[in-house]
Amino acid sequence: MKVLSKLALAAVVLLLFAGLLYGHTKKPWPVPAAAKARKNPVAATAESLATGAKLFQRNCAVCHGETGDGKGPWQNILTTQPSDFADAHMMAEHTDGELFWKISTGREQMPAFEKKLSEQKRWQLVNYLRTFARSKGKK
Ligand code: HEC
Repeated sequence: MKVLSKLALAAVVLLLFAGLLYGHTKKPWPVPAAAKARKNPVAATAESLATGAKLFQRNCAVCHGETGDGKGPWQNILTTQPSDFADAHMMAEHTDGELFWKISTGREQMPAFEKKLSEQKRWQLVNYLRTFARSKGKK
């Protein structure tokens, strides 16, 4: 093989590898300011959190994991790592409005739940997502 074609092959392999790595790292996901500022109208009562937990296990756990750590059974077939809701730092960077917006609109492998779950249910999920980082912090 000529040196040049060897180099070309190496470049292709490198590009593929970089693409794979890129797919696993988080791309910035900007949220419109108005969505960010939206206040959560649903109080995090025990009853509402229990509903949130059920909704989460039914709709989200396959990817995000039962404990919200992003290690659900589907994590290996996804090219983007589902977010880890037990990561207190990541969660602190999100307002309730931002989480609600991302759940509603989705992106690529994160499905949009706007038409699948009512607003009330999506806010209940936001409240439930908050419990993962809190319970981890207590350990
Ligand atoms: C098919 C797999 C899948 C399902 C089901 C799923 N998600 Fe996701 N979710 C993802 C992936 C992958 C990402 C990362 C998306 C990205 O960064 O492009 C994500 C990201 C998110 C984010 C954004 C967090 C961040 O890091 O910015 C939130 C919030 C979220 N998911 C909530 C939910 C909720 C709530 C449900 C259930 C109602 C759910 N997801 C169901 C795969 C899934």
